[in-house]
Amino acid sequence: MIVCKSPAEIERMRAANMLVADVLAELAAMVAPGVSTLDLDQEAERLVRARGAEPAFKGYRGYPATLCASVNEQVVHGIPSTRGLVAGDIVSLDMGVKLNDFYGDSAITVPVGTVSEDVLRLLRITQEALEHGIAQARVGARVSDIGHAIQQHVEANGFSVVREFVGHGIGASLHEEPQIANYGAPGHGPRLAAGMVLAIEPMVNVGRPGVKVLSDGWTAVTRDGSLSAHFEHTVAVTHEGPLVLTQRTPASAPAR
Ligand code: MF3
Ligand code: CO
Repeated sequence: MIVCKSPAEIERMRAANMLVADVLAELAAMVAPGVSTLDLDQEAERLVRARGAEPAFKGYRGYPATLCASVNEQVVHGIPSTRGLVAGDIVSLDMGVKLNDFYGDSAITVPVGTVSEDVLRLLRITQEALEHGIAQARVGARVSDIGHAIQQHVEANGFSVVREFVGHGIGASLHEEPQIANYGAPGHGPRLAAGMVLAIEPMVNVGRPGVKVLSDGWTAVTRDGSLSAHFEHTVAVTHEGPLVLTQRTPASAPAR
């Protein structure tokens, strides 16, 4: 069953989702050579709790941290570590929180120092693929239209889409129905209706699509060792079109 949220509930979901967006922006600004993913995780947890929210991932199926921080060939669910980031790395930062009974979830991939043009292109195409997916989050479209649009854009640009991890509905639970694959034929799956809230999250590899999970039980890496990027937004389906709840707007950006 897909839970539809009322307009008032979607308004209440904004708080959790804006918090995620704000914290990810703060973390992105911290990313630099020498900073560790554990430093980022500790700052993430501090910022989340300071705003009266709870980390959603910490303790989820035994996951040990607030943040998933996946470096280079790590695809998702990288566990924060004391190893310092190095110029030329990329790091995917994925975080969920619970606030006012609702969850928010978003991810970004950030370059560390200067990275090559090819790497910037991977980040750009992944972000664009997410935007193409979001554009399909319209009343009357079908769930698989989202993944189809994502796969289309990724493969047209010579990259590949990870199959093993999917996006998801989100609301009073972190993971709700439906599952949202990042690939496939259009026109399948449930029809989208106003009030559905979806976490859309393509993971894109430079090389082959295959992934494996390391012996820590969490960290997913590309089988071929190629780089991987991940962007995620939480999006409400509304009669006015897709409403990106994890988008920072200038008005809501924290003052610096
Ligand atoms: N981005 C992943 C998701 O949305 C994060 C999984 S949560 C974890 O499902 F706690 F398992 F890491
Ligand atoms: Co998610």
